Parts: sequence; structure tokens; C-alpha cells
Amino acid sequence: MKKTVLVSGGAGFIGSHVTVELTQAGYDVVIADNFSNCDETNYKGVCAILGRELPLIKMDFCDKAAVDALFAKYPIDAVIHFAAFKAVGESVAEPLKYYRNNLLSFINILDAAREKGGCNVLFSSSATVYGQTDQLPVTEESPRQPAESPYGNTKTMCEDILRDSVKAYPGVRGIALRYFNPIGAHPSALIGELPRGVPNNLVPFITQTAIGRRECLSVFGNDYPTPDGTCLRDFIDIVDLAKAHVCAVTRMCENKMKQEYEIFNVGTGKPLSVLELITAFEKVNGVKLNWKYAPRRPGDITAIWADPTRAEKELGWKAQRSTEETLAAAWAWEKKLAGK
Ligand code: WQD
Repeated sequence: MKKTVLVSGGAGFIGSHVTVELTQAGYDVVIADNFSNCDETNYKGVCAILGRELPLIKMDFCDKAAVDALFAKYPIDAVIHFAAFKAVGESVAEPLKYYRNNLLSFINILDAAREKGGCNVLFSSSATVYGQTDQLPVTEESPRQPAESPYGNTKTMCEDILRDSVKAYPGVRGIALRYFNPIGAHPSALIGELPRGVPNNLVPFITQTAIGRRECLSVFGNDYPTPDGTCLRDFIDIVDLAKAHVCAVTRMCENKMKQEYEIFNVGTGKPLSVLELITAFEKVNGVKLNWKYAPRRPGDITAIWADPTRAEKELGWKAQRSTEETLAAAWAWEKKLAGK
């Protein structure tokens, strides 16, 4: 019997890639999105890659009645929850907007899972829960630290809400995947990242500078205690990351979990500096990037990268794609958007 997976935020950057991988792995996917931070570009790209339309429900997960209607209509075996606000800076300026949206949407999903008598729930968490850490690489047992922003706090809080719900409600099981820095695009160049306005994240800023939409990339800080003075991150390819979701959903649906609530880091295990990433982008794509050093960005952590051992052992998942492949895909996507 085919299993049905509900993907909240399925029209977004990560959700669209996960939808493709799940469908190709044999799952029936129902996409739900309120399009508050994206248009239908990625949904159309998903359908083009798969060669068919997938069910798409325009709805807000803060609306409990709409969530209930969705659970009544589809035989949902698992939910992957991506639908959340994610702009770190905005969350500092508008914390209530973030707490209301990111917590309430997840509570509504868990409530529906409880009322159904059980469901498999995958929460989209983040390495941001580790805060500014000096134990590197981080394992899932590394202590969580106060996040630098309300956005980060919502990730920590949702992890706790999931952990406690799983304990209390029979049949509700959960996995939190802690992503490091997801980058790149689908090799088809039919889906990818579509930041609104000025990008906050490094790779969209790089590709937009390379295509000429931005004049110059600012590298935030060159005086960090790292080999080249710029921050170190664990950049994980978006298709690799999407595949980790297929492994996690399968583990839940096939009753292979060792505990009712599990956590996995999703990263490569290899740190790369901001400068190294820029250099790799220029080299693999044969473009010269206009960039300059700028002051540190408040809230940035010096270095973080994953110990992905648990995901490898338990999920059978490992990052496969090279940084070069990933950066070539990011560039192909940007060129496609620009019609070049
Ligand atoms: C990476 C590095 C910057 C832009 C954030 C969230 C995290 C997750 C992913 C998403 C840093 C530097 C960046 C630029 C730069 N959440 N940089 N110039 O901050 O590691 O993680 O995004 O939804 O929770 O915190 O990612 O891509 O913003 O930055 O020099 O124009 O690139 O200083 O060192 P970050 P990022």
C-alpha cells in the first residue's frame, strides 16, 4: 500500500525538493502551502520534473479547521512540517509574528495527529538550536543553547513540543532533522531557492551578484578565529538533504524507529569557510564575483559543522554530492530564473 505524506510548506525551497524525492521513492504526496513566502514557480517545477500534477491545497496551518479538513480528506501516514517563517532578522523585529505562526501551525498539526489516534511527524529543525558552540563537530547529544533569535527559539520550542507530544499521545511518533546550511538546486534547474527581496543567505546572494542583480557581495567579518578569518559552515546540498527526509519518513512508516522521538543532524561533516565557498563557486562556474569584506553580522556564530554519524548509521543516509556539483546547480538555477 502506498503511503501518503502531507508536506506543509511543500511549495517552498526545501519542501519542493523533498516532494520530488518522496514521489520518486513511491510515496503519495499532498502539498499544502499558504504561499506567504513563495509563488507557484516551485510547485510548477515539481510537476514538470514528475510529469504529473500533485494535490495542492492552499491553506494556512494556523487555521485549525483547515488542518482538520485536510486530515479528514486524505489518509495521512506522515506529515513533514516546513511551513514556517524563517527570516532571522525579521524575527528579532517581530517576535510575536514568529512565535504565533511557527508554534501554532505545529501545534495544530500535532493536535490533528493526536485526534487521528497517531501519525508520523517529521519536524524541520535547524543547527541553530546548538547556538554558539565550541564543541565541534556537533553531535545530536551536544547541548542546545539559547538561540540567537526568536526564529531560532521557535525551532528549539517546536522540538520540545514534538518530544512531549510523542510522550503523551499514543501513536504519535516524531523525528526532528537538524539541517545545517542547505544550498543548491535540483539538477533539472526546474526548482530552487526563490528569496523575496534582498537575500539573507550566502548562496542566493552569491548567485544574484554573479548574475548582476546585486552589485557586490559583502563577506561579513574577516577577523574570526578561523584559518582564513571568515566563518565556517556545513553547506549541505538540497537534493542530499531532501533524500534524508525520505529515509526518515520510511523509518517512521516502517516502524524502524528505536525511540518514539529521534533527532538527526543533516550535514556533510565537512566545514567550509565563506571564502572557500566563494572561491569554489568562481572556479566551478568560471565567473568572477564582485565581493568585499564588511563588518561582522550580529548574531553570526563563528563556526558550526555536523557530526553526521548517527544519520549514516541509523538512517542509512550520507551526503553524496560535491560542493562543486551543488554550486553548479545553484548557478544553473539562477541563470534559468534570469532567462539566460
Ligand atoms: C552563512 C555565512 C554569514 C550572507 C541561517 C540561519 C539558519 C538557517 C540557515 C534558515 C555566515 C556569511 C552571508 C552574505 C556573508 N535557517 N554571509 N554575506 O547564518 O549560517 O544560517 O540560514 O532558514 O538557522 O541562521 O546562513 O547563509 O545567512 O550565512 O558573508 O551576504 O555566510 O556571515 O558566516 P547562517 P547564511
